Amino acid sequence: MCGITGIVSRVRTDIGKILVECSSKLTYRGYDSVGVAAVHNGTVDLRKDVGTIDMVDQQLGLSKMKGDRGIAQLRWATYGAPTRINAQPHFGCTEVFFGAHNGNLHNYYEYREHLIETGHIVRSENDGELCVHAVDKYYEETGNMFEAVRKSTRDLKGAFAYAVGRADEPEIYAVKMGSSLVAGVADTDTIVSSDLPSILPLTNRVIYLQDGEMIVLTPDSIKVYRVEDGKLLDRKPEVSNVDAHAAEKGGYPHFMLKEISEQPQVARDVLGVLQDAKSEDWLRLLEDAEKHYLVACGSSYNAGIVGTYYFNKLAGVPLIPTLGGQFGSMYANTLTEESLCILVSQSGETKDILNVLNHVQETGRGKTLGILNVIGSTLMFNANSFIPMACGYEVSVPATKTYFSQTIIFAYLATKLGERNGNLDPSEAKSVIKMLKEQLPYLAQQTIDKTGILAKNLATTLMDAPDLYCLGYGFTDGVAREGALKIKEICYNHCEGMYSSEFKHGPLSIVTEDYPVIFVTTTEDSWMVINHINEVACRGGRTIVVGEKEDKLQPYVQGKFDYLEVPKSNVLLNPLVDVIPLQLLSYYLSVDKGINPDLPRNLSKTLTVD
Ligand code: BG6
Repeated sequence: MCGITGIVSRVRTDIGKILVECSSKLTYRGYDSVGVAAVHNGTVDLRKDVGTIDMVDQQLGLSKMKGDRGIAQLRWATYGAPTRINAQPHFGCTEVFFGAHNGNLHNYYEYREHLIETGHIVRSENDGELCVHAVDKYYEETGNMFEAVRKSTRDLKGAFAYAVGRADEPEIYAVKMGSSLVAGVADTDTIVSSDLPSILPLTNRVIYLQDGEMIVLTPDSIKVYRVEDGKLLDRKPEVSNVDAHAAEKGGYPHFMLKEISEQPQVARDVLGVLQDAKSEDWLRLLEDAEKHYLVACGSSYNAGIVGTYYFNKLAGVPLIPTLGGQFGSMYANTLTEESLCILVSQSGETKDILNVLNHVQETGRGKTLGILNVIGSTLMFNANSFIPMACGYEVSVPATKTYFSQTIIFAYLATKLGERNGNLDPSEAKSVIKMLKEQLPYLAQQTIDKTGILAKNLATTLMDAPDLYCLGYGFTDGVAREGALKIKEICYNHCEGMYSSEFKHGPLSIVTEDYPVIFVTTTEDSWMVINHINEVACRGGRTIVVGEKEDKLQPYVQGKFDYLEVPKSNVLLNPLVDVIPLQLLSYYLSVDKGINPDLPRNLSKTLTVD
């Protein structure tokens, strides 16, 4: 996915500066290429190239561009390789229209052919360019920019948002059709963007747009209209209390390390939200459902896997885990009115998840409960109910604190559901909640303090590991998958996360002298895991154990092994904190390899494309 930012100013003549400042907050959305189109005295200055915003700014002087309005775009490539010509923004047929999009057009190829056949000069292979040509096309027909933008959506299929303008008209227009879009009103400027962090340097007075809406930015106002009939809508700005500085590094070398260190506070905040807010709605949805599907991607999916074990143990309820892209072909036909799809997505914009949301809404079979971090996201507005993850913005592309929050939410929901359906008696439920509230934040902090140096030292010994495995069992199944994903995402080593009892059924053949295998354990499963550790150790493999140190087990483990030892707690808290040494291990290994863990190659924080 990508990030677009459009600004119109009443007083500025150096629009490039504020466009770069605001759009740089969207770096996590894409850093394959960057561009700025700035309008100065009726002429559009368009500069763009491959690279991060800092690199391209240094090379092309983006922040020195003159003008009183403009559009910036940070790209994560889908259609069209990450090249200068495919970078956004784009012109229309002439250098009068300019614009940029986020998302993807499903009718890209046929529409591109149509435009070329009807005489349009299409320069790139990027679908975003077609949005600008669509406006150009309808302007030819209507002579009116508002109508041209409104009608342009008729030609475009898919999930997207775009911002466009004309060199000779003062407004900037934007449309939301499936990808996120938020607008802001400052004293002398108005702004539209894919995400809130790029609005906050300018203003905290925001308007969240809904699908099927368009906005017109003038220097003094934002007007919101319904695309379908052009009706003016009564939408007033609301004050956002998201802390703009949360997006700063706060003295840490990388956002990732900052966000790992924020996890003890996240535990306090999310438990506060769970106990204060509309938990009754959520619990009723859970209680009334006959089938519970967990639908997620990436780290959110791994958190959901941990959730399936909490639901089994504490609520006695099966939670059927499925990847967003898998749901349609694996379970869609099994949905009934009494089904509940728990859609876990920190961004609330992952297309694989929104596809499931749309399917449930269109078929009317079942309900949806969103677990999300970004307030104002498409998932938030469209799910039957939603649970906020209360993490603050997570800027680093690899998820850490948002994964942590999600696992806590599952532990809480499973406990409350278990109390409601009698699987737990009230005193048991009460003690679990008390433990989450009172022990977990301190345990998380102790784990960070205790395992940081262990992880840092261990990382240096894995620098040249060609690949490795990270194995979990029971509650740590999802934790091991998450640890493996972190290593893949930011260290570029191949690391497979899988179930430790499965390892002997084939993958064990990879083990040779010193081949590294990580085992993630809880106090409940360590006896079982001992067998799995020895299956590797007795063949010369190198074993690394994440978990509590259990002296009674020592004699049973053959050979030496490395310990990423976490502080003592219990089987319910182990899976929540066992992830921390794995997060730190991947972080230090990434930095040792000279990689920026916040912006790993080829990745993006939120993928609003299929
Ligand atoms: C990927 C991110 O693009 O999307 C992962 O790189 C993330 O970090 C995954 O876990 C799912 O994102 P979300 O917003 O749906 O939780």
